[in-house]
Amino acid sequence: MKGILLAGGTGSRLFPLTRITNKHLLPIYDRPMIQWSIEALVKAGISEIMLVTGGTHAGEFLRLLGNGHEFGIDRLSYGYQERPGGIAEALGLAERFADGEPALVMLADNVVGGSIRPMVEAFCADPRGARILLTPVEETEHLRHLGVPELDGTGRVVRILEKPEDPPSRFGVTGIYCYDPSVFEVIKTLEPSGRGELEITDVNNHYVAQGSMAYDVLEGFWGDAGESIDAYYAVNDYVRAEGANRD
Ligand code: DAU
Repeated sequence: MKGILLAGGTGSRLFPLTRITNKHLLPIYDRPMIQWSIEALVKAGISEIMLVTGGTHAGEFLRLLGNGHEFGIDRLSYGYQERPGGIAEALGLAERFADGEPALVMLADNVVGGSIRPMVEAFCADPRGARILLTPVEETEHLRHLGVPELDGTGRVVRILEKPEDPPSRFGVTGIYCYDPSVFEVIKTLEPSGRGELEITDVNNHYVAQGSMAYDVLEGFWGDAGESIDAYYAVNDYVRAEGANRD
């Protein structure tokens, strides 16, 4: 299974910090944010990774990561997104890298306390369609900043709503996804959303409609360090106290 890390976008919710660097290079405790998602993938057994970024600080990733060997990556590829056209657009740039294999996709501002290996193993055992990772979220206000699944009585995902005013469940969709190679064909059919982006939630709803969407519920901490400056500090506090990607 290949790994695709998405680290583009504008990081506008962390302005002015992200006017002078890429969000995923900001520190989370003792290292740049990007290193935590790399560690999550490597600890899950993924050693072929493509990093997609954009903007004016893209060169800093090469300076930090080089060929990736120091971080446990066998082969590290880089992709450049010309403009922040959405998560699904950034993922589309990895088609040739994926080369017909299933892929784990992670938004590089997501940090997990535990391991994502169970999800990776579950998808490797049945690598068809898509698999998402949900996290329990109590606060309605927080759910309004996330993708939220609507579940039926049997626990099946009926659809996913992006940043819903009225969240249909108490789960957030984390930025950690597994896809079979058909994802690149799905992306080609997408239309930009109201905010002018190709949305990952539209990709996921395609698999929901096909009946080929599975999910796991993450145990333990999950944070999106790009959600707000308070979320950024909450993730910092957590990682400083507890670490991340614990087995
Ligand atoms: O973190 C989980 C949430 O991530 C999900 O619950 C949402 O369903 C999903 O849409 C996403 O929402 P965000 O509002 O957090 O997405 P954001 O625009 O902040 O982008 C997240 C990451 O994706 C960002 O760290 C870098 C990457 N990205 C984003 C854009 C817009 C790119 O690589 N290129 C882009 O053009």
